[in-house]
Amino acid sequence: MDSWINIIALLITTAITAILSSLLKNKSKSNNNNCYNRVVLPPGPKGLPILGNLHMLGDLPHQDLHKLSQKYGPIMHIRLGQVPTIVVSSPDAAELFLKTHDLKFASRPSLQASKYMSYKRKGLVFTEYGTYWREVRKLLSLELLTGAKIEMFKPIRREEVRGVVEVLKAAAGARKAVCVSEMVEKVLENITYRMVFGCKDDRFDFRPIVGESMELAGAFNIGDLVPFLAPFDIQGLVRRMKKVSKKFDEFLVKIIEEHVKDAKKQEGQARDFIDVMLSLMEEDSMKEVKFGKDNIKAIILDVLAAAMDTSVNVVNWAIPELLRHPKLMKRVQDELREVVGIDRMVEESDLPKLNYLNMVIKETMRLHPVGPLLLPHESIEDVKINGYFIPKKSRVLVNVWTIGRDPNAWSEDAEEFNPDRFMDVDIDIHGRDFQLIPFGSGRRKCPGMQLGLVVVQLILAQLLHCFNWELPNGMSPCDLDMKEKFALTLSRASHLNCIPSYRLSPPPPPLPTRRTSRDGGVDKRRAGLAAVFRTDGELVLQYKGASFDDVVDGDEALKRRRRSGWCRGGAWMQREAVVRDIRERLIREMNEYSNIRNIRVRNVECREHLRT
Ligand code: HEM
Ligand SMILES: *[C@@H]1O[C@H](CO)[C@@H](O)[C@H](O)[C@H]1NC(C)=O
Repeated sequence: MDSWINIIALLITTAITAILSSLLKNKSKSNNNNCYNRVVLPPGPKGLPILGNLHMLGDLPHQDLHKLSQKYGPIMHIRLGQVPTIVVSSPDAAELFLKTHDLKFASRPSLQASKYMSYKRKGLVFTEYGTYWREVRKLLSLELLTGAKIEMFKPIRREEVRGVVEVLKAAAGARKAVCVSEMVEKVLENITYRMVFGCKDDRFDFRPIVGESMELAGAFNIGDLVPFLAPFDIQGLVRRMKKVSKKFDEFLVKIIEEHVKDAKKQEGQARDFIDVMLSLMEEDSMKEVKFGKDNIKAIILDVLAAAMDTSVNVVNWAIPELLRHPKLMKRVQDELREVVGIDRMVEESDLPKLNYLNMVIKETMRLHPVGPLLLPHESIEDVKINGYFIPKKSRVLVNVWTIGRDPNAWSEDAEEFNPDRFMDVDIDIHGRDFQLIPFGSGRRKCPGMQLGLVVVQLILAQLLHCFNWELPNGMSPCDLDMKEKFALTLSRASHLNCIPSYRLSPPPPPLPTRRTSRDGGVDKRRAGLAAVFRTDGELVLQYKGASFDDVVDGDEALKRRRRSGWCRGGAWMQREAVVRDIRERLIREMNEYSNIRNIRVRNVECREHLRT
């Protein structure tokens, strides 16, 4: 959208000719317009012919729509080119569109982006409401995004997030600034790849292409909005779409072929998304719709884009917000220290206990919703809402960016980043409470919510638990650039560079693998600990003095031996010394080493020993 001026100039000339010719040719059109005007459309700004209100939208359309809605109200009518568009900007209004009349707004507009990049709308995200959409949605939510599947991929998330910690640790050691946003993007890319394709694949760099496709899908495409201009592709978007699509396709064809070949070998292994879909294709379980390779490709593309470009943004907004609010950062880190402990990394089982972190995530998604306008909805039939007429095939944009800032819902300090507003207040983020719907609500709400949240929580928790973050070159947090960049998703306009410093106390080293560490320093003349060996996973404590019976069961043994007339002098005293030594040493060793699998306690003299 950088060449708006040119486009508008071009459009205005086109517009004038078009109006003139349509006025001359088609008188009945003006009758239609009258007819259209008799029903009451929601209020909204007047538009230009042809362009409608497009000229009012700049690089950050959600903010422009925000300003307009302050004037025209929470249900506003504008025209994007020829397309009647309703902009919804309050929690109550959102409830009307996404709950009360959900079904009537459950479709999506037909976009060139989905035609060219989604195999003629064979994916899910941009597919019109109907049987095909329902089947694909079922497939995704019942086969690929279930709780069980998400759990199955836990080791992948664990490994990849630990991987990035290692990378950052190296940077911390060198006191080097790293690009945090890029790191987070990379981890997510790695996780998504392994989940979808079963492996990382560096033959193909998906990331920039996904970014490009999001930009293309998010653009207000003149070709969609002013259909008679579509053939001219004024913004050059279709050309770019075709290029992107070609690149995607080459790779997907290869990857699918490989999966078909390997399918037999893989039995028993964790199956990735493509395996699951291929097996469904064979089973032909989707009876109502034909389901072939193009369908798989389109769905895979949707999943890739949805998984790679969403969670990233939550983390990338949360960290700078916390840097700007050091007190909040401290609270998050204190909570992590308390719940997780400073000697180990975060595990997914810790996540539900991190209340404050979860409040921070909600607050981040309130002010920086990943999809500021959700995805465009489209009305399936004419609808009357609050006395307003909303024609069939209207586009509906729900401005969650505005809803998250609504002073009626969030009080006067709505612009402040303040996670405490969620303290003791039960505001749900999954689509129940309409003041906070970063995942949408109703039929079209995000099916990847659960996965997205786990990933965001884990990455954010791990990065804040393992590292302190400092801005480079003495930069003050107040100087952080918080400007937005609009595509289908809302990202930061500038990258975030920080110097990490490692925060955890080093975990105990593993026991050495060779038999080593013959321990000196024990008094060999007296009874007690004589030597300590640490071998592969095993700790051996040797002691000197009374036999093992005497140690463990001293009193009994002593008595028995007295009775039998055989008693080694001072066995009782020795027992005390041995037990004390061994206990103390065991505690020390266990604190020091993480991987003790086996402990043996052995008497030097008698060669008797005990395994524990
Ligand atoms: C924090 C992460 C995420 C956020 C904030 C998010 C947000 C959204 C939003 C706002 C929508 C549109 C809802 C509407 O139009 O009313 C959506 C749709 C969708 N999301 Fe997500 N999403 C996230 C993660 C994911 C993940 C991880 C996946 C899958 C792997 C996913 C898959 C989808 C799909 C397939 C749709 C389209 C649903 C449909 O049209 O029926 N999302 N998401
Ligand atoms: C992603 O995976 C690659 C290949 O294993 C690895 O080299 C890289 O460090 C990973 N990136 C991050 C940020 O974890």
